[in-house]
Amino acid sequence: MAIILGIESSCDDTSASICIDGKICSNIIANQAIHQKYGGVIPELASRVHQQNIIPAVHQAIADAKIHKNDIDAVAFTRGPGLLGSLIVGTSFAKAFALANNLPLIEVNHMQAHILAHFIDNMPSFPFICLTVSGGHTQIVLVRDYFDMEVVGQTTDDAAGEAFDKTAKLLGLPYPGGPLIDKYAKEGNKFAFQFPEPQIPGLDFSFSGLKTSIMYFVRDRVKDDPDFLQNNLADVCASVQERIISILLNKLKKAATQFDINNIAIAGGVSANSGLRAALNQVAVELNWNVFIPKFEYCTDNAAMIAIAGYYKFLNKDFVGQDVAPMARMKF
Ligand code: KG4
Ligand code: ZN
Repeated sequence: MAIILGIESSCDDTSASICIDGKICSNIIANQAIHQKYGGVIPELASRVHQQNIIPAVHQAIADAKIHKNDIDAVAFTRGPGLLGSLIVGTSFAKAFALANNLPLIEVNHMQAHILAHFIDNMPSFPFICLTVSGGHTQIVLVRDYFDMEVVGQTTDDAAGEAFDKTAKLLGLPYPGGPLIDKYAKEGNKFAFQFPEPQIPGLDFSFSGLKTSIMYFVRDRVKDDPDFLQNNLADVCASVQERIISILLNKLKKAATQFDINNIAIAGGVSANSGLRAALNQVAVELNWNVFIPKFEYCTDNAAMIAIAGYYKFLNKDFVGQDVAPMARMKF
């Protein structure tokens, strides 16, 4: 039997999870509401709140899994990528817990963990292509095995989640704006306004031009009609969301053709978007894809994905020493 404690603290969610033999038995997430009033994550505040939340989150994860602290066999933690001050809290906690309890330590790459979240309730067959879309990253990843992953396309500027969040800010919505755009888009007409699709070669992405065009669009419309946003919020949200989805899916189709793979997954915070999930299911029918869409709770940041990644590393005895340090930028 293998019991893994997973710790996630890369951005603004403090999370702890217990995985027993590949099954997630608890997944506690403490969100940080403090950032809402600033319109984005303030790194210094995030690390302080992680300090407050981490021990209660771990206690709760252990209690919910109905185990005892001494039953744990290994500690897996997010080493990176992420905010350094946030990562230091989770890494230091994991190291201290492992040292005090004489347990092996397992480092986990946050972006790989988003992909491995698919193995919590499902077993996608290798190879598959995963579109990983979060607040900091947008990647097309060729997944050959659990830890044999290659980034074959990525954003050259903003991430897809950033495109959602920055658009929301322009529309006067609070942080994080992605879920709110999703909500308003459901009531809007996605063909009401046209936003440009960037022409980026290969499998790479760009979202900064879209952000600029939305900024000018809002400025011009509000100049003509000060109530424009109030009266057209749902249509603007639906139209922007439609464009972001088409950018993502067009590249995904290109990747599927290029690698001749029809096992397709999505992961990361933006994979919670209901429009993207519906559009992907539709493309799956048209192109005969097997699609893998994570449960909502495993899309945005969580420690269950760290614990499951840790479980697969535990089986390989892939451990790190006490000299491990977090990495704000971390490649696969
Ligand atoms: O994976 P994640 O929780 O954190 C990072 O690793 O960055 O992703 C957070 C991002 C934010 O940009 C948030 O606005 C976006 O995911 N997001 C969404 C939705 N839920 C979260 N974007 C669009 N629609 C959603 N429903
Ligand atoms: Zn993430």
